[in-house]
Amino acid sequence: MTPGQTSLRGPDETCTTQESIVSTKAIALLLICGVLCFTYGLFTPLPSHPNIMSWYGNTSSQTSMLHPLPGVWISSTNGRLGNQMGAYAALFGLARMNGRKAYLSMNSANNLGAIFQLTLPPLPAGENKDFQNFRLHDWMEESYEHISLMRVHFTGYPNSWTFYDRYRDAIRREFTFRPMIREVADTFLRSVAAKSTSQLPGANITFVGVHVRRGDYVRVMPNVWKGVVADAQYVIEAMNVMRGSYPDSVFVVASDDVKWCRQNINITRGDVYFVADGIPHASPQQDLAVLAACNHTIMTIGTFGFWAGYLAGGDVIYLDKYVLPNSPFLKVFRYEAFYLPYWKGIPADLSPLKNG
Ligand SMILES: *[C@@H]1O[C@H](CO)[C@@H](O)[C@H](O)[C@H]1NC(C)=O
Ligand SMILES: *[C@@H]1O[C@H](CO)[C@@H](O)[C@H](O)[C@H]1NC(C)=O
Ligand SMILES: *[C@@H]1O[C@H](CO)[C@@H](O)[C@H](O)[C@H]1NC(C)=O
Ligand SMILES: *[C@@H]1O[C@H](CO)[C@@H](O)[C@H](O)[C@H]1NC(C)=O
Repeated sequence: MTPGQTSLRGPDETCTTQESIVSTKAIALLLICGVLCFTYGLFTPLPSHPNIMSWYGNTSSQTSMLHPLPGVWISSTNGRLGNQMGAYAALFGLARMNGRKAYLSMNSANNLGAIFQLTLPPLPAGENKDFQNFRLHDWMEESYEHISLMRVHFTGYPNSWTFYDRYRDAIRREFTFRPMIREVADTFLRSVAAKSTSQLPGANITFVGVHVRRGDYVRVMPNVWKGVVADAQYVIEAMNVMRGSYPDSVFVVASDDVKWCRQNINITRGDVYFVADGIPHASPQQDLAVLAACNHTIMTIGTFGFWAGYLAGGDVIYLDKYVLPNSPFLKVFRYEAFYLPYWKGIPADLSPLKNG
């Protein structure tokens, strides 16, 4: 049995014992049991689409923190910053809902620990042994609320709020930037505010962080996933939606392709600022700190943009439905498990794929 199958097997086993009884009653029981197996045994692991939210976010089942927690749980992932944050947040959420003690793996301590003021303690020396690997699916499942294993190493790409949004305040606290990083971000936003108010005296400035993910996705999305990245029209539309909500919006742009942004984002209104201009050679974490300090967020795709929106905590606009319906991407990704239900999606223009 793989670790992922530790629960939800009950109904199958009950069926097997009842098969030996031969009587009309038993056959009736068997039939009922069969239905239960069908309903709960075999097909429960993946919650169905429309009901995906029905049991996530139940905060009344939180574990008491009065007793020291048993267990040694860690996680790691090969991904970049956004993926690593997702793995950490999933570990944090799963440990809390199971009443287990989570620790920072070496990998997380070195990477995330240098950026954020995390509260999970580092794994004590000599404890990095005897773990059972537990590969998580990309979204929460009910069985993950009842993991009986004591020494677990989570792997996979659990990039979904469904693992941790019930502890939103705690997660946002975990990702408190270290003071140096936060100060550079605040200083930059203050300089943007000063420039903006000199152009628009008396304006009630609202910072909108804009993250445009391109890089390798420009090729990977069409070639591997039958999908697109955000085009210029999406960015214009999203900016106009924000201007509608917040007339004195000032847009703060970060991207792994600043050149594309300079060519495609219209700066003639004087309300667009590039992080790259204010903080030359900014690291990804520095970009994220700026976006997180903004009031609202325009993201395109990807986990980095997700975290910008989740940490900023205001309105979020995202690129929606950016792969074809038959894309293999949809086997590992669900829009509703990735984007918060109250975020606003703007559907992508898929015509370049259909024409090509
Ligand atoms: C939430 O969890 C509690 C305790 O586990 C349970 O009694 C309650 O029925 C759950 N509520 C929902 C809506 O699932
Ligand atoms: C400024 O805008 C914010 C929303 O971004 C709003 O809550 C606040 O009331 C506004 N203040 C003034 C003085 O208009
Ligand atoms: C850029 O924005 C300005 C001001 O809104 C507008 O007049 C101009 O036509 C825009 N340029 C392009 C290329 O869209
Ligand atoms: C908007 O963000 C700025 C910069 O972080 C902050 O100082 C300000 O209080 C925020 N405004 C609101 C209404 O939250």
